[in-house]
Amino acid sequence: MQVHDEGRKARMMQALYGTLAASALLVTASMPAMADALQGEVIAERWCASCHLVGPGQDVASDQMASFMQIAQRDDLTAENLGAFLRSPHPPMPDLQLTHNEIRALIAYIETLE
Ligand code: HEC
Repeated sequence: MQVHDEGRKARMMQALYGTLAASALLVTASMPAMADALQGEVIAERWCASCHLVGPGQDVASDQMASFMQIAQRDDLTAENLGAFLRSPHPPMPDLQLTHNEIRALIAYIETLE
């Protein structure tokens, strides 16, 4: 199959990513928290890794911003506070317009880094 433009290629990659995430969820459907955390890791790598270090395996990010490991260890950033932070825009961090499910998944993932 020929891919004519970058936009279409990006959409195909997105569909593929979605399928991979969905199969990861199916495999772990009996463990909802684990499934959330896996989905959160995919979201973090896609949307957050350009600025934050989102996991122990990542080497390059901006050194200006808290890593997700630091965020996980901060006592003031409880699941509730993280949810509130991610639901509202916080310049200079871009408003990523995350859905309720994406936020829940991200928090579940960040909690695994503690
Ligand atoms: C374009 C860069 C950028 C991206 C992408 C980004 N952030 Fe941020 N983030 C920032 C900046 C800058 C701050 C500091 C904001 C401030 O000082 O209020 C921040 C702060 C945070 C904080 C609060 C940390 C603290 O010190 O209080 C959390 C939690 C956070 N980001 C989570 C995320 C998550 C989750 C994503 C992905 C969905 C994400 N960020 C994507 C730039 C980014």
